[in-house]
Amino acid sequence: PSEEAGSDGQSIGNCPFSQRLFMVLWLKGVTFNVTTVDMKRSPDILKDLAPGAQPPFLLYGTEVKTDTNKIEEFLEENLCPPKYPRLAARNPESNTAGLDVFSKFSAYIKNSNPQLNDNLEKGLLKALKKLDDYLGTPLPEEIDENSAEEVATSSRPFLDGQDLTLADCNLLPKLHIVKVVCQQCRNFSIPRTLASLWRYLDAAYAREEFASTCPSDKEINVAYASVAKALR
Ligand SMILES: *[C@@H]1O[C@H](CO)[C@@H](O)[C@H](O)[C@H]1NC(C)=O
Ligand SMILES: *[C@@H]1O[C@H](CO)[C@@H](O)[C@H](O)[C@H]1NC(C)=O
Repeated sequence: PSEEAGSDGQSIGNCPFSQRLFMVLWLKGVTFNVTTVDMKRSPDILKDLAPGAQPPFLLYGTEVKTDTNKIEEFLEENLCPPKYPRLAARNPESNTAGLDVFSKFSAYIKNSNPQLNDNLEKGLLKALKKLDDYLGTPLPEEIDENSAEEVATSSRPFLDGQDLTLADCNLLPKLHIVKVVCQQCRNFSIPRTLASLWRYLDAAYAREEFASTCPSDKEINVAYASVAKALR
C-alpha cells in the first residue's frame, strides 16, 4: 500500500484512511511494505499508477485499487479463513457507532465565532456520549441467559467484543485525530466521565496495531493547522 508522506516528505503523514488499512493488514498477519508518496513533489509513479487518485491505494499484482472501502472489502474477501482471521464485526451496530463524532468535531474546530463555540462543543460531547453508551451497553453475547445476575454494563475492550474488528480500524484513527486536535486547538479533552470510551481508548493504545500506526501529534497538527480556526 501507498500513502501520503508526512510534512518532511517521508515519514507517515496524517491519513486516517491509510492507518485504517495498515491496521487491517497487520491484524490479518500480512507482511507489507509502506511506500510513502510525497504529494508536493507530484510523483510520476502515482500519476502512472492511479491518475487523479489520492493515496492510499493498493497495488495487487497489476491491479490498482483506490477506494478505501473497496480495498478493505477486497482484503476481507481475499484474505479469509482458514489462513487469515475474519475481521468483520458481528453486530452491525458496531460499524456505525461513533461515526458522527467526526462530523461534529469538524464543525467544532472549523468554527471561528466564539458565540457558537459552546453549542458546537455540546454537539461533539453528545456524539461522544452516544459512543460511550454503545461501548457501555452489553452486546447480546455478553448477556448470559442462564445467569440470574443481570449484566448492567459491558466490560468489552473493543467496539464488537474482545477483538479488534474492521469497525475499530475505521473508527480509531478518526478518534485519535479528534483527541489530538481538540486538545491542541480548543484545549478540550475527552471527559474522563465517559468511562467506557476511555476503557476503549486505553485498550486500543495498548495494541501495537493501532499505537504504532498512529501519525505523530506533530504531523496531525501540521495537517490541521489550515483547517482548524482560532476563535475570535
Ligand atoms: C519489503 O522491502 C524489503 C526491503 O526493500 C524487502 O526485502 C522485502 O522483501 C519487502 N517485503 C515485501 C512483503 O514485499
Ligand atoms: C486548559 O484547560 C485546563 C483544564 O480544563 C485549564 O486548567 C487550563 O487553564 C486551560 N488552558 C488554557 C491555555 O486555556
